Amino acid sequence: MLTNLFNKLFVLIFVFGSLSISAEQVLVTGGAGFIGSHVVVELLEDNHNVILVDRILRHGTADIPSRIREIAGEKGINLFVANVDLLNAKDVDSLFQHKNIDAVIHLAGLKSVSESVKNPLLYYTNNIISTLNLLNSMEKHGVRKLVFSSSATVYGNPPTSEPIRENFPLNAVNPYGQTKLIIEKLLMDLVNADKIKNLSNVDEKPWRIVSLRYFNPIGAHDSGKIGDFQDPPNNVMPYIFEVLMGKRSAFTIFGCNYPTPDKTAVRDYVHVVDLAAGHEAALQFLNGDEGRGFAAFNLGTGRGISVMQLALAIQSAINNKFKDKGLQFSFSCADARPGDVPTSFTDPSLAKEKLRWQASYNLDRMIEDSINWALKNPEWFTSVH
Ligand code: WQD
Repeated sequence: MLTNLFNKLFVLIFVFGSLSISAEQVLVTGGAGFIGSHVVVELLEDNHNVILVDRILRHGTADIPSRIREIAGEKGINLFVANVDLLNAKDVDSLFQHKNIDAVIHLAGLKSVSESVKNPLLYYTNNIISTLNLLNSMEKHGVRKLVFSSSATVYGNPPTSEPIRENFPLNAVNPYGQTKLIIEKLLMDLVNADKIKNLSNVDEKPWRIVSLRYFNPIGAHDSGKIGDFQDPPNNVMPYIFEVLMGKRSAFTIFGCNYPTPDKTAVRDYVHVVDLAAGHEAALQFLNGDEGRGFAAFNLGTGRGISVMQLALAIQSAINNKFKDKGLQFSFSCADARPGDVPTSFTDPSLAKEKLRWQASYNLDRMIEDSINWALKNPEWFTSVH
C-alpha cells in the first residue's frame, strides 16, 4: 500500500517537476523573422510556451505563425502571437502586464549593414529605442532573464585572420554593428548596477543576460516552411535565391582581390537550425549557477568558407542533389562591398564549454536546405531585379 502511494507520488513529482523546468513562458521579439521563426520552433519543440512578438507580419510573413504551428504539430497550441511594435512602449508594457513572462529572447532589429551605412539614424532609432522599451518593461515587471541577438559585426575588422574569440577587441565599423555594441554595453551596465546594489538572489532577482554573437546564419528548416527572405536582398543567400529562381541573371562575388587563399572573402556560415538550438542552450545556461550577470558567446562552426567556395558548392548541389530541377547558377567578380571585412570566422570553444553547444550541420546541408526552401516558396522571389 505504502509502496504504491510512494510510486504515485514519485510520478506526480516527476511529471510536474519536468513540466515546471521546461515549460517556461518565453517572449521572443522578431519571432516572425528568419532567425526568430526557427528559434520559436525550437522553443515549442522544447516544451516552452512562446509569445511571438513581431510588428509587421508583412509580405508572406503574415502566415509565418501558421507555418510554425504546422511544424510544431500539437505543441503549436503553446504559441501566442502578438502583433506589437517595440517602438510603442505602451504596447510593450501591456504584454508584460497581461502575460506571465519568465524570459525574453530579443531578436527584433534592423540588420542590413549596407542600409545602416546609408541611413544610420533609422538604425539607431529603431534598434536602440525598441530595446530600451523592452528593457524598461522587463525591469518594471521583474523579468530579468534575457538572451540578446548580437552579431559578429561587433568585432569590426579583426586585427588578424585568426579565429575570433569573445575576448577580441569590440570595434564595430558600421552603424548596424554599433547598435549591437551599444546594446551589449547597456546590458553590461545593468549587470554592473546589480553589483553595486549588492543584490542577493532572495530580495530582488539579479539580471541574467547572454549575448549571442551570430556569425553568418544560412540554411532553413528541412520542411521548407520557414527560411530567409529579404526584398530587396542584402545577405548572400537571398541574392543566391533570386539567381536560382531566375529573378536575377547571375550571382556577383563582391571582391575577388582580398588577402585570402582564393582572393574572395571568408565567412563562418552556420545553419540557422543549429543557431536556434544555441538559444535554447543559452536559456538553460541562464537558469544555472553561472547564469547570473552578463556573458557573450560566439555562435559559428569555426570553419571559414570563402564566397567562391560557397558559389562552387551551390553549383555542385544543382548538378547533383537538384539536377532535375532545371536550376541555373552562374557568377562573376565585382568590386568589394563597402564595409565588408576580408575574413571573419569564430573559435567556437567557449560556447561548447559553457553552453554545451556546437554546430552539427555542414555546408552541404546548409545549401541543400536553402535550395529546398527557395524551390518550395517561388512566390516569395517574385519581383524581377
Ligand atoms: C557574406 C559574404 C559579401 C552578397 C552580415 C552581418 C552579420 C550577420 C550576417 C546578423 C560577404 C558576400 C554577399 C552578394 C557577395 N547578420 N556577398 N555577393 O556581411 O558577412 O554579415 O550579415 O546576424 O552580423 O554583418 O553577410 O551575407 O551580407 O555577406 O559576394 O551578392 O558574401 O561580400 O563577403 P556579412 P552577407
